[in-house]
Order: sequence, then structure tokens, then C-alpha cells
Amino acid sequence: VTDQAAGLDPRPIGVFDSGIGGITVLKEVVRAFPHESFVYLGDTARLPYGSKSAETVRNYTVQNMKYLVSQNVKAIVVACNTASTQVFEDEYEGRPVYNVIDPGARLAVAATQNKKVAVLGTRATVRAGNYARKIKSLDESIEVLSQACPLFVPLAEEGWNEDPITNLIAFRYLQNLKAADVDTVVLGCTHYPLLKSAIARVFGNHVTLVDSGEAVARQLQADFDAGKLKPNSSSHPLVLKVALTDKSDHFETLSSELLKTVSSTVATFETVSVI
Ligand code: DGL
Repeated sequence: VTDQAAGLDPRPIGVFDSGIGGITVLKEVVRAFPHESFVYLGDTARLPYGSKSAETVRNYTVQNMKYLVSQNVKAIVVACNTASTQVFEDEYEGRPVYNVIDPGARLAVAATQNKKVAVLGTRATVRAGNYARKIKSLDESIEVLSQACPLFVPLAEEGWNEDPITNLIAFRYLQNLKAADVDTVVLGCTHYPLLKSAIARVFGNHVTLVDSGEAVARQLQADFDAGKLKPNSSSHPLVLKVALTDKSDHFETLSSELLKTVSSTVATFETVSVI
């Protein structure tokens, strides 16, 4: 019986981000789907996306999706909120495309009790306003407060997850939101889960932090259950490939550490061009 006849699809799932942030999403999908293969693209040569114009981010996003299609992926996960603001399609070249904003917005709506939600993101994500629109379309009584936190991305890339400087910067960005008494905070940039403890320290334990990685993993699970995505066949060896547009030993060390916590498959690294 062929894979196709058996309802199986051994092609990898493609995931991309500008840098290390999307590894927080990759981690969640690897944890949720341990029998799947993955190709991760980190556009390290062009990071950050969050300070760039919508047009430039759209250009990069299309190039990244084209690269993943060339790697014969069966689905594309846009593991970057900034890029997700410039993805207008549910499908690209016949593959389903998953953005991280819609599932994150749905989780936030389900979580809030006092109807006050904060969205943290890059400047580009906050400017695009997708979260506020999506949350309001689901429940217009929810008040959405947005805050750009541009210094969080370099702190996460640096690996300063537990550092007094990170705590100080988190406090500076977030104190007004805390004073506004939000009960749900969307980590609307995939780098931010790396700084979760510093962010949680500002808000306190009673506030729910919404992680886009967990949110998008649930979305994929629903599509596997519905048969829209076909599972990998167990006869194929698992692949966990990380492609970077600029080589970075620091990236390799950080991401290997993160992935080790969810998978025994050793990630392989290569440098690629997507242009
Ligand atoms: N990780 C990206 C996001 O989720 C942003 C990082 C960047 O600015 O490149 O928005």
C-alpha cells in the first residue's frame, strides 16, 4: 500500500520566523506531533522584521514560503506574528498556511474574565492591528490594550531569559498595562515566550499569558483530526532540519538546547538562500 493510499503523508511540516522566536513555536509543534518531520527556516540575515515596513515584511514572507515549498513541505506554519500580519492566504501552492495570530486571539478571548486583554508585539504587529481586530470580531465588549516591546527581541536572541536587565526592561514596558488591570496577556511575538518568566513577574500569577506556539499547535491538531493534514508514516526516519539565511553558532547552541527538551531527534543545521 502506498503512503497516499494509506492516508499518510511523509512530507515535513515547514515553519519559519525571522530568528530564534519561531523555535518556541517549533518546540510546541514537535512536542504535539513527535512523529512528524520538520523544516525550520530562520531568516537570521534579515532579522528583525518588527521594525520593517509592511511591504518589506510581505516580500520576505513570500520568499520564505517559496523556500519551504521548495523543501516539499505539506503545511506552512508562520511562526512569526509580524509575518502573520502580512499573510492573507489560508493556502499557498496547495499547502495549508497557519498564522499565529488567529489562534492566539481565540485563546485570549476564551481566557479573559474581566474583558481586558493586553497584546504585546513588535512595532509592526501593533501597527497592523490584527490582534485587536480579531479579538473584537469575536467579542466586541473586550478592551484591547496593545504595547510594542521592541527591545524584547534582541534580549531573546541574546538568550538573556533570566537577567536583571530583562526584568527592568519588562517592568518599563509593562507597568501601565499592569496598572490597567488586564487579566490576559497575549505574547504576540514568538520571541516573547523566551522571556515568559520576566513578563509573568511584572503581571503576577493571576494573569494568563497566551503563547502563540501552543495556540497554533491546537489548530494543527484540529486539522489532523479532520483529515485536512495527513500524518507521517512511521517507516520514514524523522527529520528536524534548521535552515538559516545567515550562519550563527549562537543560534545553533540556543535552539539545540530548546529542542532537546522536547525531542531526541538531533537537529541538523544548514545555511540557505531564499532570494
Ligand atoms: N518573532 C517575530 C514575531 O513573532 C518578530 C521578531 C522580529 O522582529 O524579527 O513577531
